[in-house]
Parts: sequence; structure tokens; C-alpha cells
Amino acid sequence: MRNIACIEDLRERARRKVPRAFFDYADAGSYAQETLRANRDDLERIKLRQRVLVDVSSRDLGTTILGAPVSLPLALAPIGLCGMQHGDGEILAARAAHAAGIPFCLSTMSICSIEDVAEATRTPFWFQLYVMRDRGFIGALIERAIAAKCSALVLTVDLQVLGQRHCDIKNGMTVPPQIRLKNVLDIGTKPAWALGILKGKRKTFGNLAGHVRGMEGVTSLAQWTASQFDPSLSWKDVEWVRSRWPGKLILKGILDVEDAKTAAKTGAAAIVVSNHGGRQLDGAPSSISALPKIADAVGADVEVMFDGGIRTGADVVRALALGARSCMIGRAYVYGLGAGGQAGVAKAIEILRNELDVTLALTGTKSVRDIDRRVIAQM
Ligand SMILES: Cc1cc2nc3c(=O)[nH]c(=O)nc-3n(C[C@H](O)[C@H](O)[C@H](O)COP(=O)(O)O)c2cc1C
Repeated sequence: MRNIACIEDLRERARRKVPRAFFDYADAGSYAQETLRANRDDLERIKLRQRVLVDVSSRDLGTTILGAPVSLPLALAPIGLCGMQHGDGEILAARAAHAAGIPFCLSTMSICSIEDVAEATRTPFWFQLYVMRDRGFIGALIERAIAAKCSALVLTVDLQVLGQRHCDIKNGMTVPPQIRLKNVLDIGTKPAWALGILKGKRKTFGNLAGHVRGMEGVTSLAQWTASQFDPSLSWKDVEWVRSRWPGKLILKGILDVEDAKTAAKTGAAAIVVSNHGGRQLDGAPSSISALPKIADAVGADVEVMFDGGIRTGADVVRALALGARSCMIGRAYVYGLGAGGQAGVAKAIEILRNELDVTLALTGTKSVRDIDRRVIAQM
């Protein structure tokens, strides 16, 4: 990991090490990628207020998320197919997160299963739930998360239907993930990746294989999602999930003030202001532009988390300043995973930690808990 100075360096290294179909799957946004770009552009537009001659010799990056102490205001976001960026990717990312003192969230669409991650790690992790048509299966999945002692359930509410990523069609992303003949040449140039995948526990969706019908035949990711995911999902289903999950519930994918107000009334402990990393409704506003209104409306009733476009420690400061209590990172750690497995994820977290620390100091702030709108420069 020498010569890696920033998240963009990890991205470049991941691009060289991960087969194109999987790198593109992680990197891209939906359709014309307007929202993907807006997530970054709008963060970069927010300028921070430089303050001088404040004694910042002791600084504190620690805070709490859902009442639990964390070393940084960060959690690793749920990432489908994480284990295709690197063999056993979910286990490696969970270990890196726990070593750094922050939560890891496992996706329903992970390669390693809930049980695999529970067996391989000691610290409880969060589980992210997609609600599929087969409610018997979803009930059983919640039971499996309870049995694995998951410490929070993250219900993702912004993927009733799948936003199209053009590259997935062109690259032939399928369910189960298949290595197409036309990709073999590409994979031939990525032997370390191939070895990692071969040695990994699983090659398909660990939580679904053997439980969900239709996993046997190969279909495109888009077709498969359309047949399995439930487009009739409604607020009533949030109650249904709530009644089955005794622990802390987080609703992920809120971008609208009215939805945030409804979410706050469901008994959820937290919401994540998110547009799924620009992978769902293209043309939706950036997450950062939606955050302040939502935080103002519901911040007193429910813990507000944020994700979408975080690539630097300064971005974390921007999100906290505009009302988030903590942030999730997606691609920032996925690039680290592709670039160098567990060490790469650890590097991504370390980069963000160091940048956050310096940004804190140069804005004259001593603790992440003190960050508020005063750190934003008036334009
Ligand atoms: C490759 C990839 C896969 C994702 N899979 C899931 C998923 O399975 N469940 C989910 O709730 N969100 C998923 N997301 C969205 C992330 O949890 C998160 O909201 C997003 O990545 C944040 O934006 P960022 O990547 O710019 O940090 C995924 C994102 C990416 C990049």
C-alpha cells in the first residue's frame, strides 16, 4: 500500500486488479450518471471555513452511532457482490472495519453469507435487508440475522425496481455471477484476483443460494432483480419488518423531507439520507443537497446518517456540518478492497481518518461532535 495517498489512488489500483465487469459494476451509476456526478460535484462545491490560531493540539474523532461508541463517524455501507471485488471480500471488509472501530454492514446481495461473516469475525455487524416477493424467505433471513447476533438491521427502501447501469448490460453481469468466455482474457491479466476468488468460500450470493428459486439458471442481474424484488413494498412492510426485528432498525435510501418525516414515525432508530450512490433514480438530487432540509425536519426525532460521494475526510466534515451524525462509505472502501483486500480497506479507512483529522484541525474544531454549520464558509 506504499504510494497510495488518497482514495483515488485506491480506485486506480482497483481498476488494474479487478476484472472490468466487476470494477465497472462498482464504479458506475445508473443511466446517464447525472446523480452519481452530482453527489461529488455538490460536495466539492461546499467550501470549508479556515480558522487559525485555535489550540487544536488535542483532537477527538470518536463519537457514537446508535448509542455505540465508534472511533470515527463512519460505517461501511452494504455492498452487493462485495466478494467479487476480492475473494472473501465481505469477511475482509468486516475485519478491517472492526479493527478500525467502526461498523460493517453486510448486504443481502453479498457473496459470503450472514453465517460465513459471523463465523469469521468476533464483533457484531449490521445486516442490510432487501425485501423480496417471497416473504417466507425474508422472514427467515431476518431470523438468520437475529441468530448471527447482528447489531442493527438496515432496511433499504430505494430499490423496489433496479436502476439500469449500462455497463452491466454491456459486460454481461448475471445472477449467479458468471465468468463469461469473453471476459477470460481480461481475467487472465488479473491472476491475483482469480486466485483470491478461487480460494474464497463462495462464488455466488451466499444468503440466497439454496433458499431462493431461480438461482439455478443464469439470468441478467436486471431480469433476476425484477423477478425477485417486490415493487409493491410500502410503509406497511416497514411495520412488518419492525415486528420481526427486535433490535435497532435503520431505514436507508431517504431523499425527501416528507418521506423522512414518515420514516421518523416508524420507530426506526436512524435513517440514511442516500440515493444509493447514484445507482437508482438518475436525475435525483445529490444526497448532500437533500441532507440539510431532512436534518432540520427530523434530526431531533431520529439519528440522521448520510452517504453518497464521500471520497475525502473533508467530505465527512461537510456532511456532519449539514446535519448528519455519521456517514456511510461505499465505493471508497470497495476500491480499497479491490486494490488490496483487508489491507486495502484498512488503508481507505486510514486515509479518511487522517484527512478528517487534518480538516478538523484546520477548521479550528477539536471534536467531530462539535462540527456544525459554522465550519461552512459563507459564499
Ligand atoms: C457496488 C455497489 C453495490 C451496492 N450494493 C448495495 C446493496 O446491496 N444494498 C444497499 O442498500 N446499498 C447498496 N449500495 C449502495 C451503498 O450502500 C451506498 O449507499 C453508496 O455506495 C454510497 O455512495 P458512495 O459509493 O459514493 O459512497 C451499493 C453501492 C455500490 C457502489
